[in-house]
Amino acid sequence: MRRGRARRHPADRLQPLTDHAPNVEGMVEASVQFGQYAPALRTILHLSDTHLLAGGALHGPGIDTEEHLATTLRLIERMQPRPDALVFTGDLTDLGEPEAYRRLQELVEPVAEAIGAPIVWVAGNHDERPAMREHLLGIEATDEPLDAVHDLGGLRLIALDTTVPGWHHGDLSDRQLEWLGEQLREPAPLGTILALHHPPIPSPLPLFDILELRDQTRLARVIGGSDVRAILAGHLHYSTSATFAGVPVSVASSTCYGMNLGRPALEVNGFDAGQSFHLVHIYDSTITHAVVPVVDAPTGDYFSAEWVARMAQLSPEDRLQAFSRKRA
Ligand SMILES: [Fe+2]
Ligand SMILES: [Fe+2]
Repeated sequence: MRRGRARRHPADRLQPLTDHAPNVEGMVEASVQFGQYAPALRTILHLSDTHLLAGGALHGPGIDTEEHLATTLRLIERMQPRPDALVFTGDLTDLGEPEAYRRLQELVEPVAEAIGAPIVWVAGNHDERPAMREHLLGIEATDEPLDAVHDLGGLRLIALDTTVPGWHHGDLSDRQLEWLGEQLREPAPLGTILALHHPPIPSPLPLFDILELRDQTRLARVIGGSDVRAILAGHLHYSTSATFAGVPVSVASSTCYGMNLGRPALEVNGFDAGQSFHLVHIYDSTITHAVVPVVDAPTGDYFSAEWVARMAQLSPEDRLQAFSRKRA
């Protein structure tokens, strides 16, 4: 969350945190319920690996990381319902340059302010802790890990710093694991989500084997039996999911560049495509993670707020008749 500010939350744990009612005449609440599940209690946008460079420099084979992030943010600004938080799971900058952190802040903060969502920054192996602390978070420039706890209206979000200064692989110190165990001692009303950079899952790509989170069984011991409901991660530059210690893991691809998994496994490289982020919905009974591609493509125009309003006027049976029944 920005500068460690806590978000206020309602006492009733079963109420959505944000006001989801669009202020447009004739429109119904965006979070209507036409099916078995009540609307999500919390919504998080999970972004990763922005890899920003100072001076608008291009990345690798000419990838415009800043423009890709700006395009992503323009998309986010228009999304409804508004998310309850923007979570960035590391590799915020490519080289840890102070100017890149300041630019990142300049780009993201106005959007976050406009939509009323706090930002959760997680460190990645391309980040540099002192520069990230000073130029993004506005705190003392030290090498201390950037671990933090955020309260999203009863949903606990813990940012865990898996980076190792001077290295690209991931690790967690005994002190960090002890701290995490202490945080998890008491369950949170809506449970806990862990956000970290190096995902505790396998990858078929040899390069990520070398750069994995080490000694993962130590982390498994700490979160086993706790209220952790999901782990959000990045680092891989492709979207994937798995379980770890019985907890679902969701890895968001990058806003900067994707990994071309269509190539032979030993020849997979980054390409200027596959940019996306995840839309995470937290329900009472489950959590869903949807990939949102950042791409300019023709889009249909069949459903609208007015269409939803029309459906809302009908009884459940009439809605089935109006929309589910196949016509001859
Ligand atoms: Fe990355
Ligand atoms: Fe990474």
